[in-house]
Amino acid sequence: MASVGCLTMFLKWRLFCGLPRQMGLLVLLLHVVNMVGGQIRYSIPEEMKKGSVIGNVAQDLGLDLKRLRSGRARIVTGENVHYTELKTDKGILVVNERIDREELCGDVTPCSFSFEVILENPMELHRVTVEVLDINDHAPVFPNRDKAIRFEVSESAAMGVRFPLQSAEDLDVDQNALQDYILSPNDNFVLKQHMNPDGSKYVEMVLQKPLDREQRPHLSLKLIAVDGGAPQRSGTVNIDVTVLDANDNIPVFNQSVYKASVVENTMKGTSIIRVNATDADSGSNGLISYSLSKMKGSAADIFSIDENIGMISVSGLIDFEKERKYEVRVAAKDQGGLIGTSKVIIDVLDVNDNAPVINVMSFSSPLSEDAPPGTTIAILNVKDADSENNGQIKCSIDGKLPFKIESSLTNYYNLVSDQQFDRESVPEYNITITATDFGSPPLFSSTKLNLKISDVNDNAPLFDKNSYFAYIIENNSPGLSIFTVTARDSDWNQNARISYLLEDTQVSGSPVSSYVSLNSETGILSAVRSFDYEQIKQLQLVVKAQDGGSPPLSSNVTVKILIQDQNDNPPQVLYPVQTGGSVVAEMVPRSADVGYLVTKVVAVDVDSGQNAWLSYKLQKATDRALFEVGLQNGEIRTIRQVTDKDAVKQRLTVIVEDNGQPSRSATVIVNVAVADSFPEVLSEFTDFTQDKEYNDNLTFYLVLALAVVSFLFITCLVVILSVKIYRWRQSRIMCHSNLPVIPYYPPRYSDTLGTGTLQHVYNYEVCRTTDSRKSDCKFGRAGSQNVLIMDPSSTATMQRIQSEKNILDEPHSPLEVS
Ligand SMILES: *[C@@H]1O[C@H](CO)[C@@H](O)[C@H](O)[C@H]1NC(C)=O
Ligand SMILES: *[C@@H]1O[C@H](CO)[C@@H](O)[C@H](O)[C@H]1NC(C)=O
Repeated sequence: MASVGCLTMFLKWRLFCGLPRQMGLLVLLLHVVNMVGGQIRYSIPEEMKKGSVIGNVAQDLGLDLKRLRSGRARIVTGENVHYTELKTDKGILVVNERIDREELCGDVTPCSFSFEVILENPMELHRVTVEVLDINDHAPVFPNRDKAIRFEVSESAAMGVRFPLQSAEDLDVDQNALQDYILSPNDNFVLKQHMNPDGSKYVEMVLQKPLDREQRPHLSLKLIAVDGGAPQRSGTVNIDVTVLDANDNIPVFNQSVYKASVVENTMKGTSIIRVNATDADSGSNGLISYSLSKMKGSAADIFSIDENIGMISVSGLIDFEKERKYEVRVAAKDQGGLIGTSKVIIDVLDVNDNAPVINVMSFSSPLSEDAPPGTTIAILNVKDADSENNGQIKCSIDGKLPFKIESSLTNYYNLVSDQQFDRESVPEYNITITATDFGSPPLFSSTKLNLKISDVNDNAPLFDKNSYFAYIIENNSPGLSIFTVTARDSDWNQNARISYLLEDTQVSGSPVSSYVSLNSETGILSAVRSFDYEQIKQLQLVVKAQDGGSPPLSSNVTVKILIQDQNDNPPQVLYPVQTGGSVVAEMVPRSADVGYLVTKVVAVDVDSGQNAWLSYKLQKATDRALFEVGLQNGEIRTIRQVTDKDAVKQRLTVIVEDNGQPSRSATVIVNVAVADSFPEVLSEFTDFTQDKEYNDNLTFYLVLALAVVSFLFITCLVVILSVKIYRWRQSRIMCHSNLPVIPYYPPRYSDTLGTGTLQHVYNYEVCRTTDSRKSDCKFGRAGSQNVLIMDPSSTATMQRIQSEKNILDEPHSPLEVS
């Protein structure tokens, strides 16, 4: 059966193969067959074991084993005969040697070899063809498959980029040859296969999704080549893809905002905070340098950053008072130029580095001393640039002063008085105001105010004493300074400017100003006139001291001026009266005894004290031995018995001396008649009128003077009357003319208007001009007995008589003293 099949196969082969070599063989075979007969064909797979049966030749050729033995069948001719062996004893063809189809035929298909089997007796030639069938004994193989295929691909490589791959080889043929390529699963690449013109395949790897070095810096892929055999065989090669970095990542800070704080005035170079950024790229693309991006204003110079490690530190002056918070933008830049940013908020912490500042907004100095407590003196503005406690302020006044500080508005303080002031005790205050903050340590500052207290007229002038005594010796020259009153006023300036005024009092009927005058500025009291102790012994006046304040204050003091006596008055003899014409004589009877009191000389001295202490002496006497005068009392007594021989008419001159320095004296003549009867006396005393002619002359002069004075007086009267009548007529005319009545006064008296005393003064002045007042007085007293009966021998003057009269009126008569 098999031989039939083989024969069929052979026929087919014969039909389909037209190769020249085979044709030659075929011709030969046809010749052989013609000669003998058959031809057989066998198909065996390659790589059969030695001894494996290829086919039963005997059976297929229709020969029995005897024939084979007798025919000495053997294989002859043909190449590749060593692959087979003919077992003649069994009539089978077996594999003699391993048959490798690939070695035998290479790519050629079908692969077969032929040989002839020859028989003898009869000779027979049979062709045997052995076809070697391929088995899948080779896998696809990549050249250098131990080494991986390496690619370096930038992660930024564009999609669609192709990477050619090696092709694999498979020695097998047909179905067992290389059929397909497979790429191990991955996201980025796909495989693309192409056909070469010769029918072989080549493959490429195409990038279909971007690479990310940061995610997968390396890709390990496998390229697998498979054949179509069964079982299928494959070959593998590794593909190493190294993803090259592209600067596709920006540096990223680990915080979007950094927060830090720094104390103001921190030293330069102090580190504050470290920022950190990372860059996913590698190499220089991941190398970061830090910088501070440009900041507004001053912040730029205040902070610096270490570009390598990102440490921010202080590089300028941090002042809380200027800036309380800084916002710094920080940048991280890789070498590829990509920049990432973040920001750093730096809070500045306050330090008590600012002392309070005091500003005096207003200050009222000087301040009136009558300002009530609570008066605002100054308004201060106190500021502290620090904050919180460091900026809280307390104001105080140094020392114990009558002021207090009150706070008003925020940061404003009032300096307020706390007591009543008295400029006279404290004229100024140095107020030191200190402002202290609550920082630790606290800072402070202070300011000095010099407050002057201005004066108010609250002190009256004060005299040193309650009353003064002053002394002046009479007969002073008018204008003589007597005394100086002094008052003090503790106020200031105008309020202490004192003027002295004489209070308008009366001294024995006339104003005190007619006695003394007072210099209002100096307080010097001086005499207006010459004083006469005998007229006025003391003067009491009130001096007022008034200051210049408004209203003025004043005080007064009593000044008692005691006028001191001077021995300016000689003694005056009162008795015996010295008459002009008549002669008075004392009678001494002849029978008078020794010590008979003849008479007593009575004298007075208007002075006082020693000046009025009188002593009497006998200066001249007709008979000195007869009379004596009592030294103290002025009594004239006889000192011996009167005899008949003594003259009737005795004349004694007695001198009266006072005790003043120098002493003054007066003499008096005492006529004594020593007689027993009056007629005797009379006859003796007629010669006493011997001075009559002189007296007549005196009388004549007096009468003449009287006439002249009277004439002047009458003239004066006539003038006054004329003026009066004239004025009366004038006033009447003015009334009739219905004009307002303007009284006319002589210009020099206009200041006395309204006193009503004008007329009087006017008259007075008129009289004065003619010196009539004096004359008047004299005229009025013209008839005085004293004048007319003046004894020509008397030494007393008319004035003396006048003063004598005054003295007699005086209650303290010097007469009583003596
Ligand atoms: C106030 O200060 C001034 C100037 O320093 C000084 O002349 C004056 O005496 C002081 N007054 C008082 C009351 O301390
Ligand atoms: C003097 O002062 C006192 C008290 O100050 C006053 O009572 C008296 O009237 C004053 N005297 C005169 C004359 O002004």
